[in-house]
Amino acid sequence: MSTFSASDFNSKRYSSSRPSYPSEFYKIIDEYHKGERNLLVDVGCGPGTATLQMVKELKPFDQIIGSDLSATMIKTAEIIKNGSPDTYKNVSFRVSPSDNFEFLGSGLVDKQKVDMITAVECAHWFDFDKFLQSVYANLRKDGTIAIWGYADPVFPEYPEFDELMIEVPYGKDALGPYWEQPGRARLRTMLKNSNLDPVRFHDIQVSYFNAKDVRNKERLHQNTEKPLFIRKQITLVEFAEYIRTWSAYHQWKQDPKNRDKKDIADWFIEESLRRRPELTANTKVEVVWNTFYKFGRRT
Ligand SMILES: C[S@@+](CC[C@H](N)C(=O)[O-])C[C@H]1O[C@@H](n2cnc3c(N)ncnc32)[C@H](O)[C@@H]1O
Repeated sequence: MSTFSASDFNSKRYSSSRPSYPSEFYKIIDEYHKGERNLLVDVGCGPGTATLQMVKELKPFDQIIGSDLSATMIKTAEIIKNGSPDTYKNVSFRVSPSDNFEFLGSGLVDKQKVDMITAVECAHWFDFDKFLQSVYANLRKDGTIAIWGYADPVFPEYPEFDELMIEVPYGKDALGPYWEQPGRARLRTMLKNSNLDPVRFHDIQVSYFNAKDVRNKERLHQNTEKPLFIRKQITLVEFAEYIRTWSAYHQWKQDPKNRDKKDIADWFIEESLRRRPELTANTKVEVVWNTFYKFGRRT
């Protein structure tokens, strides 16, 4: 996936407008993980969204490394980290593809020394099997692999926006043609066909959460798993900024054929207000995302 690596990709906006992950979810990871906490690697870390949260939210690891293919993302991660050097003194970032752990150095790479590997909102872009081979070569016995992600937000109080939430990202005259595939299609299914295999991993746990279930209290309570529940109170202006972090939006903007069209994120605001005229662009509304996670321990 090259869009996030483009030198003009706005990684600062990505950092400020994307959702982060709830404390309750990090507690689930803490409960799942067994044994030592010397080294954690967060692959596809972007601007350090989860990497930097994990310093505060997880029981401590001696060392945390974030890696990402995109030098643009890593540059922003470094800037945020350097803003609080004491808090993040055990964190470092490296530019690297997801199936290469050479940044660990010759003494550690492929030597089964990593206690936890995370891949957050990024595994859909990877060659998944090659990534799992690297995870297997680098995780210690019983070390944790945790993969999670989110997509396709829902406005629970405004069912009138459901149609817009299909039209903007997937419409053929909107962002639909601008997603890199098969990555986006994989994310849309919450990686249902990219699974941890029971030869390399055991104690596998998988959870899916459908955001529309929050409208249906009965179905919500039927979900007995602990879900990853990502919700945010956000204005429509802030939601438009979130749309602008999508790789498809970046590609749409680059296409000369859209030069004279209304910005699609602004179009989203206009269409929302047309459907619910009592709102303003600065009214806070609730947004909930479809989510998944997959945990395993190396055999
Ligand atoms: C949507 S961002 C997720 C960033 C962050 N983990 C988060 O939770 O928001 C996806 C990231 O995956 C990275 N990425 C995509 N393909 C990659 C690959 N093959 N190897 C490493 N990183 C990759 C991109 O550069 C981008 O920073």
